Amino acid sequence: MLVLGIETSCDETSAALVDGTGILSNIITTQDVHQKYGGVVPEFASRAHMRQLLTVIGAALQEAQRALTDIEALAVTRGPGLAGSLLVGLSVCKGIALALKKPWIGINHIEGHILATAETSDTACHPYICLVASGGHTLLVHVKKPLQYKIVGRTIDDAAGEAFDKVAKILGLGYPGGPRVEQSAKGGNPSAISFPRALMESDSLDFSFSGLKTAVLYHVQNLNPEVAEQQTPHIAAGFQQAVVDVLIEKSLRALRRFNCRHLVLAGGVVRNTPLRTAFQQTCRRHDITLSMPAPELCTDNAAMIARAGRMRLLRGQVSSLSLDAMPNLSL
Ligand SMILES: Nc1ncnc2c1ncn2[C@@H]1O[C@H](COP(=O)(O)OP(=O)(O)OP(=O)(O)O)[C@@H](O)[C@H]1O
Ligand SMILES: [Mg+2]
Repeated sequence: MLVLGIETSCDETSAALVDGTGILSNIITTQDVHQKYGGVVPEFASRAHMRQLLTVIGAALQEAQRALTDIEALAVTRGPGLAGSLLVGLSVCKGIALALKKPWIGINHIEGHILATAETSDTACHPYICLVASGGHTLLVHVKKPLQYKIVGRTIDDAAGEAFDKVAKILGLGYPGGPRVEQSAKGGNPSAISFPRALMESDSLDFSFSGLKTAVLYHVQNLNPEVAEQQTPHIAAGFQQAVVDVLIEKSLRALRRFNCRHLVLAGGVVRNTPLRTAFQQTCRRHDITLSMPAPELCTDNAAMIARAGRMRLLRGQVSSLSLDAMPNLSL
């Protein structure tokens, strides 16, 4: 089944073609318009999706060397995300499905992240624990059977990616924060400054990153500006290490609690190279098998939506034209 995936939940306009052999194309355009505002401006995001989406779909077809009429089904993100942005993707998907008389399905964006590593069929080793660490979510999900999700841990305040973005702002590194903190941390010593790791003593599977962010803020405010600038790489490295330590510890806890031997990582924060290396080393030590998406499949992309959609479509699930966007959709 050749599936066209469409993703427009935030500031990436993306279209992908996926079939039984894998990902044939995955075009992702990032909207630069938000950079000067230091964060995503929802109205600009939906306008940019309107301008770009058809071109991006055309590029995905061209790269996969397929025609629009070759598409057998469609999958689109219906939430969570920005209302206007979701509506652009959903409307275009419905329009194409209607014109081609093909089935389509609305997909939960977080399920897309979870299934980004899923190969052509859902043969991942169930049960598994998935750590979702993205811009809007930090979740531990127990996946007992294909497409069945139970959230067993979540952040009680900021998401991990959000903490990276806010710390980047505090350090004056700009937007998007995650990659800039990682870059700065390369020149720093992760042990030079010890930042707090929240909710580590209890047996909780929940996360909290807001205290960590505030600790970075107070640390910076207590330094004179010149010293602060010199210390930036150490602060970035210390912060990054604190996030990685917490994510690893909680993931191990969830694996133990639910008797799982397989860990899946998902979400934009998983692009972080020191995080990837630390998880690889830890899982090897604990005899846990680990799946991580390729970097371009960690952040928002349509291939993960097409993959999730294809799995559901192959089970006979379809959406109807009355399906609406759900900005607050939960897993
Ligand atoms: N190299 C990196 N290191 C750390 N964080 C990163 C890196 N690259 C990206 N990120 C973070 O990943 C987040 C974006 O990921 P993603 O696209 O999955 O989130 P989102 O779609 O905005 O949120 P959600 O999926 O929860 O709705 C941002 O917060 C960004 O800072
Ligand atoms: Mg996302």
